[in-house]
Amino acid sequence: MKVKDHHGLELTGASAAAAGLYQKALDAYHCYAGDAMTPLAAALSESPGCVMGYVLQAWMTLIGSNAETAAMGAQAFAVAKDLPGANAREQGHLAAIGSLLAGEVRTAARLLEDVNLAWPRDVLALQVGQTLDFLLGDARMLRDRIVRVLPAWTADTPGWHAIQGLLSFGYEEAGDYARAEACGREAIALQPRNNWAQHGVAHALLMQGRHADGVRWMRHENEAWQAEAMLGVHNWWHTALFHIGLGETEEVLRLYDGPIYGAATTFSFDMVDAAAMLWRLKLAGVDVGDRWAGLADNFAREPAGLSAFVDTHAMMAYVGAGREAQARALLETQSAALNGPGDNAYFVREVGQPAIQALHAFGQGRYGQATDLLRGLRGKHHRFGGSHAQRDVLDLTLLSAARLSGDDSLHAALLAERDGAQPLTTPKTPAIAA
Ligand SMILES: [Fe+2]
Repeated sequence: MKVKDHHGLELTGASAAAAGLYQKALDAYHCYAGDAMTPLAAALSESPGCVMGYVLQAWMTLIGSNAETAAMGAQAFAVAKDLPGANAREQGHLAAIGSLLAGEVRTAARLLEDVNLAWPRDVLALQVGQTLDFLLGDARMLRDRIVRVLPAWTADTPGWHAIQGLLSFGYEEAGDYARAEACGREAIALQPRNNWAQHGVAHALLMQGRHADGVRWMRHENEAWQAEAMLGVHNWWHTALFHIGLGETEEVLRLYDGPIYGAATTFSFDMVDAAAMLWRLKLAGVDVGDRWAGLADNFAREPAGLSAFVDTHAMMAYVGAGREAQARALLETQSAALNGPGDNAYFVREVGQPAIQALHAFGQGRYGQATDLLRGLRGKHHRFGGSHAQRDVLDLTLLSAARLSGDDSLHAALLAERDGAQPLTTPKTPAIAA
C-alpha cells in the first residue's frame, strides 16, 4: 500500500520516513522560510523513487532562479519522468513541469489547474499554480485558482495558513484589499513564518498608500518571517517601498545594501527587485552611487531572451550603469525573441519589447519617444507578468518621461490620476531624472 500525506494524497515511491521528510520540506516551501533543501535531499536519499520529491525539487528551482539552479530543476524532472508507477496527480505535475521547461507557461498553469480540480487539497499545485498566474499577470486566476478549492477546506485542515496566504495575494491582485489583509493576518496568526501571507498583507497596504502601516507590519508587528526567508529579498523590497512612500530614501539604500541586494545573487527575481528599487530611486532623483555597475554585471552573466519581465529590468540596470553596448545587445535579443519558442514571444511582443525600448529611450534622453511607448503599454502591461506593485515602475517612468519631455498636460493628468485612483506610490520626492 502506498504512503499518503496528511491530505490523503498518495506519494509514489516514498517510505513513511521519506514522506515525513518530504512534508517537512513542503512545509518550509509553503512558508518560503526555513531549510527545505536538506530534508528534501534526505527524503530522496531515503526513497530514490519518490516522484513528488523530485517534483518539489523542480518547482523550487525552476522559477525565479538562475541558469545554474534551474539546471538542477531540469535534472530533477529528467529523473522523475522515468520513475515507475507515477499516479495521475504526479503525472499532472510532471506534465506541467515539462511544459514550463518548454517555455509554455500558460499550458503549465492550465495543467496545474486540472490537478487541483481533481485534488483540491494539493497545496503544492495551488502554490506553484499561483506563481505561474503571477508570471502570466493573470489577476483573475491569482484569486480564483485558490477560491475555487475552498469547499474542500476547513480551518482545521492541515496547511490552512498556506491557503489563507495564497488567498491574500489573490484577493489583493483582484483589488479586494480588505479581504486580502484579513486573510493574510489570519494566516500569520496561525503561522508567523509564512512569508507569502506576510507579503499579501504588504501588497494590500501598499495599494492603499498605507506606508507607515506597512513599515509597522513588516518590521514590528511580525518579524518571524525574516529568519531564513526564501522570500527575504522580495519582502525586504516591499519594506523598502514603504520607506520610499515615506520619503526615507537613506533607509532604502541601507536595505538595498543589506537584505535586498547585499548578497548580490544572479537569481532573476532578486535582480528584478534590485533593479526596480534603484530605478525608482533614480526617478526620485536619489544618487545611488556605483550600485548599478555590480547589478548590470550580474544581469550580463545570465542568459537573456527567456523572460521579457526579467529583461525589462536588465535594461534598467544597463541604462543605470551607462552600459550602451549591453543595452543594444539586449534590444537585439528582444527582436530575436519575437520569433522564439514558448510564451515569451508573446510577452515580448505585447509588453517586453516596447517597455525595453522605452527604458532605453528614457536613458538616452529621448523622453517624448519613451512617453509614446509607455502610453501604448498602460492598458496591457500586466500581460508580461508581475504584480501591480512591480509594474508600477513603468507608470512611474511614464510620469517622469512626460514631465521631462515637456508634456505638462499629460504630467498633470497622470499625477491627478495617481492621487485619485492609485494612492500606492505617489512620490513624496519630485520625480526627476538623475
Ligand atoms: Fe510582491
